[in-house]
Amino acid sequence: MRDWSKAEWVDPSYNWKPLPVSEMPERLLIDYATRCNLRCHMCPVWGLEDDGQIGSVEGIMDVDASRRMLDQFTKVQPMVAPSIYGEPLLIPKLREVFGDMKQRGIALALNTNGLTLTEDLAEFFCQIKVDSIMFSLDSTTPETLKQVRGVDKLAKIEAAVFRMLRVRGDRDLPRIGVSFTIQDSNRHEEQAFVDRWIGVVDVVRMGIVFENGTFPDMVEPPKRVPCGVIYKTMPVHNDGSVRLCCLDGVRATDMGNVFKTSVADVWHGEEFAKARYYHETEQWDKVPFCAGCNGWAQYEYSEEVKDGLLIRRSPEYTYYNLINRLSSWQGNLLGGHKPPPEEVKAQAQRKTLADAELA
Ligand SMILES: C[S@@+](CC[C@H](N)C(=O)[O-])C[C@H]1O[C@@H](n2cnc3c(N)ncnc32)[C@H](O)[C@@H]1O
Ligand code: SF4
Ligand code: SF4
Repeated sequence: MRDWSKAEWVDPSYNWKPLPVSEMPERLLIDYATRCNLRCHMCPVWGLEDDGQIGSVEGIMDVDASRRMLDQFTKVQPMVAPSIYGEPLLIPKLREVFGDMKQRGIALALNTNGLTLTEDLAEFFCQIKVDSIMFSLDSTTPETLKQVRGVDKLAKIEAAVFRMLRVRGDRDLPRIGVSFTIQDSNRHEEQAFVDRWIGVVDVVRMGIVFENGTFPDMVEPPKRVPCGVIYKTMPVHNDGSVRLCCLDGVRATDMGNVFKTSVADVWHGEEFAKARYYHETEQWDKVPFCAGCNGWAQYEYSEEVKDGLLIRRSPEYTYYNLINRLSSWQGNLLGGHKPPPEEVKAQAQRKTLADAELA
């Protein structure tokens, strides 16, 4: 880890002792294709009214350049989300790109709107053992889907979830989930969504919306702390440029470019070092993108085991994990989550054995 504590932008009166930073980021968000077949109203890119601004970030990543980036992970493989502000099922040469990542031992975790998931693609995801597929539904009725995601094709998206579940069957992978981003237009369906999907999919994810530079529904702990995002996650846009945080869809920040230098150079470079220094010394206003954001509060999880579920809650997310499908949630797919408690895993195993005896 490069020592920046004597850099000219460091004020010695803070007596800054830099927090440790991992050699390489544990999570990589890679925008292979900044293109989408939807225009969800809350989306920080596709929800914008200014087509020029959207056009300025649209694009497709060069596959060879992305491979050279992944080649730099020699010791520990990261968890990769293959989209930031794109629909991953629209990535050109998708089978080649995903197959290549799985061969490297990367945990591949997708968020998708599900609209173009064919039977064939579902089978391919099972064959290569994609680790996780999370369908963004945000609604239980076509009317609300239209409000949030601009289309009323809920039946089509739900059919994609059931297609994925059927094709996967009893196999461990992919782990299959549905997601709901809580906002004013769908808040009334929050509980109905949980009731509809618990017991059907492996995991139900409820999250709060980011809007106008912050998460209005976040309940923050009293004391602000350095944001975990800048110690764990590297968001790479389609041109290799790296942004401070995935919330920066329209490139307000610029941390460097991994296609021009290297992942380690950017991760331990001056821009990330400065952001971490200002966070660690509580000079929040020196990182304008973070100044008004409460995303730093998202990391503390509480845990409850109830009705066959392992429920994990943080100020940003609630995850309802089906205990008897927990065996597929392990290794680098955990993406910074602590592993499920041993006694919960044992409970799941006992249930599987009992089911096998009954069968
Ligand atoms: C940006 S999308 C990209 C992947 C894919 N197109 C999809 O919709 O799942 C990733 C996730 O971010 C969520 N999302 C979009 N805008 C958001 C916002 N303003 N605040 C919180 N989550 C948001 C989406 O609902 C989705 O679950
Ligand atoms: S489907 Fe995903 S990327 Fe596309 S507009 Fe909606 S949230 Fe944004
Ligand atoms: S404080 Fe907000 S904007 Fe800054 S890194 Fe954390 S989540 Fe991202």
